[in-house]
Amino acid sequence: MKKSDIVKLILKDRLSFSPKNSSASAFAPTNIALCKYWGKRNSELNLPVTSSLSISLGDRGATVNFELAEQDSITLNNQPVELSSKFGKRLIDFLNLFRSASGPYFKITIQSNIPIAAGMASSACGFASTVLALDKLFDWKLSPSELSILARLGSGSASRSIWQGFVEWHAGNRDDGMDSHGESLSSAWSNLCVGLLIISSKDKGLSSREAMQRTVLTSPLYAAWPDKVKQDLTLLKKAISTQDFELLGQTSESNAMNMHATMLSAWPPVTYFLPETVIAMQKIWQLRQEGLPIYFTQDAGPNLKLLVLKKDVETLKEHFPQIEVLQFTRVESNE
Ligand code: PMV
Repeated sequence: MKKSDIVKLILKDRLSFSPKNSSASAFAPTNIALCKYWGKRNSELNLPVTSSLSISLGDRGATVNFELAEQDSITLNNQPVELSSKFGKRLIDFLNLFRSASGPYFKITIQSNIPIAAGMASSACGFASTVLALDKLFDWKLSPSELSILARLGSGSASRSIWQGFVEWHAGNRDDGMDSHGESLSSAWSNLCVGLLIISSKDKGLSSREAMQRTVLTSPLYAAWPDKVKQDLTLLKKAISTQDFELLGQTSESNAMNMHATMLSAWPPVTYFLPETVIAMQKIWQLRQEGLPIYFTQDAGPNLKLLVLKKDVETLKEHFPQIEVLQFTRVESNE
């Protein structure tokens, strides 16, 4: 099955190429996986081997604006993007799923307030906001699950960026992936904060797609990954429902370390650790030993995302002055 088959399956008679509005814009938050998506069972449709669970980062994400135009153009944070660049091609290929060769064409403006391509899930909020904006432009009125499936076709983790708060992406088991979408786990946890420790904003080099594929194909440790995810999902859901911060932190950090271990054992080995990443990890472990309850997670990039409770934010900042801490006033479903 191709991506275009899934688009037809979802949009059915709504798939027309004439937009109902001349412009539309939408915001989607970026999300950080506490239990990672690592490995695809179908790489065309971005169907995962396992389910995963994330937290969305409030007002941190991307806003995409579409305006009907004579030809396509893209600007990202006020800079023009070449349509032939990797980024440009990926976005245009995605848009082509929803239009014919004769258009419509768009002036696309993207504003992102997170570092692009540094393992900060920029593709997640990028594709989710694109799908949300297209839904408005064409007036599809799709359900959140359908929007999540379409966003997944752009990037797996985008399936979770349709919602705020905690989101579980169910792996599903259908070949067409119609059961592989996010679900909002509505729960408020107002004193939970996420710290962004930016170690490098440079392009990460190896994409998560390539790293994932190499890991699945060559890592002897990958066989243990689905069981690890199963256990961690149960623990995380328990931690969220009982607001058990230690359980949330321990499970998230352990899950991330296990994912990176599968990469280290791939061949050729893959690592997103920079020396400064490891130094920061060791500092976190040391601080924790000294009684400061902080935990980290890491994605396909060198940066760390820290989990911390509001009461410990000031102490954390003393140790990591460059950290940016996001305090959510509301961590709950937006449905
Ligand atoms: O959605 P992708 O293809 O960028 O993959 C994301 C992979 C991780 O960020 C490492 C894990 C996750 O679940 O977000």
